[in-house]
Amino acid sequence: MLSSWEKLDDESKKRFLKIIEEQSNRLINLVENMLSVTKLSTGNENLILKEISVKPLVETVISVIKNQHGDKNFSLNIDEKTPTILVDKDKFQQVLTNIIENAAKYGDLHSSIAIETGFCKDCEYVSIKISNTGDEIRKEDFEKIFKKFSRIDNPLTRRVQGSGLGLYITKNLVEKMDGKIAVYCKELENNRYLTTFEIFIPASNVEKQARAICNQ
Ligand SMILES: Nc1ncnc2c1ncn2[C@@H]1O[C@H](COP(=O)(O)OP(=O)(O)OP(=O)(O)O)[C@@H](O)[C@H]1O
Ligand SMILES: [Mg+2]
Repeated sequence: MLSSWEKLDDESKKRFLKIIEEQSNRLINLVENMLSVTKLSTGNENLILKEISVKPLVETVISVIKNQHGDKNFSLNIDEKTPTILVDKDKFQQVLTNIIENAAKYGDLHSSIAIETGFCKDCEYVSIKISNTGDEIRKEDFEKIFKKFSRIDNPLTRRVQGSGLGLYITKNLVEKMDGKIAVYCKELENNRYLTTFEIFIPASNVEKQARAICNQ
């Protein structure tokens, strides 16, 4: 751009700037992920647990990801009675960002991304499900994708860049917040699959909040 500035028309300048923006975001993401991995492996990831509402947090994450993935439709189905959860807000935002970004990255072109929450009355956990249609994640890869630097070799993954750290960090953070993460894949027609990541995260209650205050 610098060497050919005079010769470039506005469209080309926009195209180059878009590439610069994408690659800068990729670098920021990579540096943040490497920092998270180091902190997790040295036990320096300190969490500050607080009572958080799921809906506004999910909405914030979607609004950021929508900017980079304009071709995707996001559908949000959050039960109004969903209890508040006990999490570190920034880290849980990182968790949701990783999963929803993956759904946008690896989902079929124009795939809808469905996000829904649920909970059972006596259950102490809130469930957050994120689904997209795309290539299959085979059962034998369910554990592998949560390992450090691990990516699946399929056409959709080859099309987009990534370092295979997002799900490793996500699983570790969720477990540090006393939650769990699961993945399942259901066959649809025409060799397409519905992939769902489900996060179970503790609902806040008095006892857990007391523990959070002690941990600070
Ligand atoms: N929603 C999904 N649908 C299909 N495949 C997925 C989905 N989410 C993750 N994967 C597969 O799991 C692999 C690991 O995901 P992970 O988020 O850890 O790494 P990444 O997206 O490749 O890179 P990074 O998140 O570090 O930028 C991906 O490379 C992809 O092959
Ligand atoms: Mg990822």
